[in-house]
Amino acid sequence: MSNDATRYPNLEQQVVFITGGGSGIGAALTRAFHLQGAKVAFVDIDDAASQALAESLKAETGRMPHYRRCDIRDVEALQAAIAEVGRELGPIHTLVNNAANDDRHRWDEVDVAYWDERMALNLRPMFFAAQAAAHQMIKIGGGSIINFGSISVQMAISDLSAYMTAKAAACGLTRSLARDLGKHNIRVNTLVPGSIMTERQLEKWIGPEEEASIQARQSLKMRLVPEHVAPLALFLASQESQAISGQEIAVDGGWG
Ligand SMILES: NC(=O)c1ccc[n+]([C@@H]2O[C@H](COP(=O)([O-])OP(=O)(O)OC[C@H]3O[C@@H](n4cnc5c(N)ncnc54)[C@H](O)[C@@H]3O)[C@@H](O)[C@H]2O)c1
Repeated sequence: MSNDATRYPNLEQQVVFITGGGSGIGAALTRAFHLQGAKVAFVDIDDAASQALAESLKAETGRMPHYRRCDIRDVEALQAAIAEVGRELGPIHTLVNNAANDDRHRWDEVDVAYWDERMALNLRPMFFAAQAAAHQMIKIGGGSIINFGSISVQMAISDLSAYMTAKAAACGLTRSLARDLGKHNIRVNTLVPGSIMTERQLEKWIGPEEEASIQARQSLKMRLVPEHVAPLALFLASQESQAISGQEIAVDGGWG
């Protein structure tokens, strides 16, 4: 499956910053924007996967996306990475707040430190990355911020309260920032993935039985993969979505 059939000419040479762009859905995002000719910078903590992705894209296209290791729980490091990309590649036009972690926890074992750490990973970086990138977007007359939500917010999944709290909050963050930044022609939207069969999901949580029950909930009886998600991010970054802001848009196969 490939994302290179549709062309968005205005994404060419545009600077795109992706968190968690080294594996899972993030890798499909990195690849899709790179194939559009965008100047892609991504941060991650998985050096092996990220470097392998950057090398494989270089082999495929002759160009290499810009990878920098950055743990997004460290706000100063994230701000520094965004500033560096602005200096080296040019002002950021599109920010994709993709990185997250859905590790499970027992409700009666969560302590304050664990709760704060989950927010520091799954919520706080979205705001501070948007704040840092928006200053660059203003200089070029606008931009697009894509925050990743989750279908889980509409479900009743046990052992996931911190993650689901952060993902629900992402939708509120989107709506408020869309209002703050709209006057600068910066659009902010939430992309809501359904149940996407990444390597990690298949390794950790989803066996054949779980996948069958996921497909029973989907209107479309198909396996959703990261390459189904990336085209929506391209669209939300492109000029074609210039009037769309403050929205939650799902790629979930018609969940019901
Ligand atoms: N896969 C799904 O079914 C699904 C469903 C709903 C929402 N989502 C959302 O989609 C997004 C991508 O999910 P995914 O399934 O591809 O996740 P994933 O775990 O497969 O990939 C996440 C990426 O983020 C990186 N990362 C993790 N912690 C980091 C940190 N502290 N600093 C920097 N990078 C870090 C990881 O190394 C990895 O490359 C997330 O926001 C997730 O909540 C996914």
